[in-house]
Amino acid sequence: MRHPFSSLPCLLLASFSARQAYALVEYIDVCNEIKTSVSNASAVFFPGSFTYSNDIAHWAGSSKELAACSVEPGTAADVGTVLKIVGANAVPFAVKGGGHASNPGFSSTTGIHISMARFSDVVFDATTKTATIGAGLVWDDVYAALEPHGVNVVGGRVSGVGVAGFTLGGGYSWKSNQFGLTVDTVVAYELVTPNGTVRTVNASDANLFWALKGGGNRLGVVTRFTLKTFPQTEVFGGIIIYLGDQIAALANATLEFQNTVSDVKAQVITTLNVAAGLPGAVLLLFYDAPTAPAGTFDMFMNIPAFSKDVKTRSFLSLVQSSPVNLAPPTRAIFNTVTLPSYTSALMDAVVNETLARGAALTLQSGTFISYDIEPFAPGFLQRSRTSDSAFPPTRSQGVPLNIYYSWGLSAADAAFQDAARASAARIEALVGGSSKLPRYPNYSIYDTPLADMFGVAGTARLRSVAQSVDPKGVMNLAGGFKL
Ligand SMILES: Cc1cc2nc3c(=O)[nH]c(=O)nc-3n(C[C@H](O)[C@H](O)[C@H](O)COP(=O)(O)OP(=O)(O)OC[C@H]3O[C@@H](n4cnc5c(N)ncnc54)[C@H](O)[C@@H]3O)c2cc1C
Ligand SMILES: *[C@@H]1O[C@H](CO)[C@@H](O)[C@H](O)[C@H]1NC(C)=O
Ligand SMILES: *[C@@H]1O[C@H](CO)[C@@H](O)[C@H](O)[C@H]1NC(C)=O
Ligand SMILES: *[C@@H]1O[C@H](CO)[C@@H](O)[C@H](O)[C@H]1NC(C)=O
Ligand SMILES: *[C@@H]1O[C@H](CO)[C@@H](O)[C@H](O)[C@H]1NC(C)=O
Ligand SMILES: *[C@@H]1O[C@H](CO)[C@@H](O)[C@H](O)[C@H]1NC(C)=O
Ligand SMILES: *[C@@H]1O[C@H](CO)[C@@H](O)[C@H](O)[C@H]1NC(C)=O
Repeated sequence: MRHPFSSLPCLLLASFSARQAYALVEYIDVCNEIKTSVSNASAVFFPGSFTYSNDIAHWAGSSKELAACSVEPGTAADVGTVLKIVGANAVPFAVKGGGHASNPGFSSTTGIHISMARFSDVVFDATTKTATIGAGLVWDDVYAALEPHGVNVVGGRVSGVGVAGFTLGGGYSWKSNQFGLTVDTVVAYELVTPNGTVRTVNASDANLFWALKGGGNRLGVVTRFTLKTFPQTEVFGGIIIYLGDQIAALANATLEFQNTVSDVKAQVITTLNVAAGLPGAVLLLFYDAPTAPAGTFDMFMNIPAFSKDVKTRSFLSLVQSSPVNLAPPTRAIFNTVTLPSYTSALMDAVVNETLARGAALTLQSGTFISYDIEPFAPGFLQRSRTSDSAFPPTRSQGVPLNIYYSWGLSAADAAFQDAARASAARIEALVGGSSKLPRYPNYSIYDTPLADMFGVAGTARLRSVAQSVDPKGVMNLAGGFKL
């Protein structure tokens, strides 16, 4: 019998824990079965190789695990082969797009790690004005590929975020005030179902199309997304950093922006934070034309800033102006609430949560305690007129608040996760239980009840669609919200 470690450098094993070494022994035969079953368009990589390290890498250190091997399928048919093998062996697996999952274990595993890296094509069809995009890309790649055509898609707002996880969850974009969420612009999915069948899912397949729009990764592996495109000019905007003494002024200005600027091409994200113990704030601002009408952003420009990088630039340059990847977090968690709209009382509560939690959590190895205020324009969820999606289950107005904490010590994980739950509950309580709105899956902490994201009826419908494509529950071997 083949020795399970035959292809592994022994020195490397010394750095694995007993549990990980056990996982390697347990799953290595499955890795080898995959290796001999897939076509030459695909490949399997083992610990110690550069490609393996890239494949399992994540934005947040706490979202990474050491897999027995990584698989890079190169064709949809090979994705089917891999799914059939992991299903038949009942081994845990992961599917990774851009690796920006904030929830531990959502796109990582100690079993078989599937990296979508080889799905890296962007094909623009000038006739249908759609772009077909590989599931291994990050939005930066997509914007760069579409720029020469003078078009763009409704995608991510900062550098490095993956197309796949983002689109499967919903997708809040700089262009959402105009065109809705990313899911509202999907024309078709290339989906590999857990029994290995490759199919194209579009509006003709009503239930599955609905479920794929925001309903997560229980339906199979998506290999390509076909999205509507929109004409794209240069844009105006960038980043402004403020010191802590301007937090109250910035909160005020954000309210003023929400309440007075009705131009759907204008959008901001206001982040209040405590970074390494010091309060501060970051404003990302966007206008979907080379210049913004006079006065649009005056409420922000009038506040004394620490630094400012705001100008006319390409869409890609705007997305890359935010420094989110300069210091990727060691450990991280997101949580969220959806608010009817921001009010002065809610702003006060967010400011207080930032400062109070920031001070307390800094003492527990907290490095960045932040609250992203995202004041989308009233009615933005109705804008697209294609409203049949698993998320959001209702199109009544609601804007997200994203809580993001990062810290250093794994021993503090529970304290930070508990604080993220408590902070969301405290803010949500202010809007009243009866007007509680669906939470965005891609900002929600891992144990969020499904009904809080998809509604009660939506959750039941999602379960029945998943049952129809995955009667054996193969996708439950992968991380993500379990139905
Ligand atoms: C810095 C940062 C900025 C962000 N900005 C925004 C924003 O502006 N707007 C917004 O809406 N969200 C934003 N998010 C949240 C983002 O939408 C999610 O983190 C999203 O899941 C990232 O997708 P990914 O492909 O990078 O993640 P991954 O970690 O690769 O995957 C996330 C989930 O999707 C599943 N998955 C991945 N690929 C596939 C596939 N091909 N088929 C089936 N399942 C798959 C994984 O199993 C996992 O459960 C941001 C997150 C971060 C960390
Ligand atoms: C891959 O396999 C195909 C046949 O399935 C063959 O035509 C092709 O030459 C092979 N490519 C390489 C690089 O081996
Ligand atoms: C879905 O795709 C099929 C096959 O390509 C096509 O015949 C059908 O018209 C499409 N449906 C919609 C609503 O686009
Ligand atoms: C984004 O939402 C989808 C759909 O629910 C889910 O599969 C995915 O895991 C989410 N990503 C994160 C980071 O939670
Ligand atoms: C914020 O707005 C309130 C009410 O409009 C005002 O009383 C307060 O002075 C403002 N604070 C700052 C710092 O601008
Ligand atoms: C501020 O937030 C903290 C933490 O949630 C809370 O204990 C405190 O009571 C809040 N203060 C005010 C004035 O709301
Ligand atoms: C695979 O599952 C699909 C449902 O998604 C079903 O229509 C198809 O018949 C199944 N194929 C096989 C070979 O079992």
